[in-house]
Amino acid sequence: MRIAISTGGGDAPGLNAVIRAIVLSAHTRGWQTYGIRRGFGGLLGEDGVVTLTPDKVRGITHLGGTILGTTNRGNPFRWVVKDAQGNASEIDRSDDLVSAFQASGFDALITIGGDGSLKIGYDLWKKGLPVVGVPKTIDNDVAGTLSSFGFDTAVSTATEAIDKLHSTTESHERVMVVELMGRDAGWIALHSGLAASADVILLPEIPFDIEKVTAKIKAREATGRHFSIVVVGEGAKPLHGETPLVERRSAGTVDRLGGIGSMVAMAIAERTGKETRSLVLGHLQRGGSPTTFDRLLGLRFGAAAVRAVGDRAFGVMIGFNPPLLTRVPLEQVVGRSKHIPLDSDTVLTARDLGISLGD
Ligand code: F6P
Repeated sequence: MRIAISTGGGDAPGLNAVIRAIVLSAHTRGWQTYGIRRGFGGLLGEDGVVTLTPDKVRGITHLGGTILGTTNRGNPFRWVVKDAQGNASEIDRSDDLVSAFQASGFDALITIGGDGSLKIGYDLWKKGLPVVGVPKTIDNDVAGTLSSFGFDTAVSTATEAIDKLHSTTESHERVMVVELMGRDAGWIALHSGLAASADVILLPEIPFDIEKVTAKIKAREATGRHFSIVVVGEGAKPLHGETPLVERRSAGTVDRLGGIGSMVAMAIAERTGKETRSLVLGHLQRGGSPTTFDRLLGLRFGAAAVRAVGDRAFGVMIGFNPPLLTRVPLEQVVGRSKHIPLDSDTVLTARDLGISLGD
């Protein structure tokens, strides 16, 4: 059995743990493993494919990033080509990829990715490739799994950052607005905001009214709390307005969110007269060593993916649905982002604790 592994989309802490578990579990069975470099690029004439032996994955469980490299611009169905003038456009190279996969003599493809890479995996499976998916994203927005690896590490990083902001914000009696990643899902913002005692948490799932946000800050002032911490998910939407973008989608890319933090900070300063600062935590949330939870989840996902290959259970994603790791059909995963249910106990807990969600 020859298993190919691909890591696509934005990196997430825990990727190397998954790779290591796949390689070791496969070699325990006498199978071979290969890593496709840079998403799917390695099968489309870029960088190539590397043989992954147990030696190559020694000591990588605790390392962030991915030893295979990744890209969020490598969709074989939307491959970017440039004409003589340098203008970019997209072409479908999925047939080339299927041919390259078959020519390499692979028996299975384990694709480790978020919604984008899992959709690619699903579409390749529909074209006949034996695919098993593993959910990866710090955003935690993949459907069919309670959690993706990378999320716990991102929440820990964000929590630590907000903890650190508390002392300076309180000393200066300021308002501090922290913009966190997560795209259209507010999981990172809600979980870290709650854990780090934010006063206001703005989520993409709940359009916010800036007057309600400032009312909360003024109410704190009135009771002698002269500082406030506001956590904003990058995809948060003002009740009257749009979520700002850093860059609009172009060939081979998606919209890049960003700017809501400084927008909220300006609006707060105008309405309260308080000195207000904003910061964007950005890619720090994707970096560093995975937490114990993410390492373990990554290792379990990798081993479960190899067991699925052994059972010839293709067209599925491994889901973390405690107490089980389940095999979820990819068609039940793709195109269905997982958002925070508004009646979830985590949202209710925030409300019970008096945190403003801007509504
Ligand atoms: O999906 C993971 C993620 O980190 C999002 O939270 C964020 O919006 C996006 O990727 C950033 O992408 P890039 O690395 O291309 O800036």
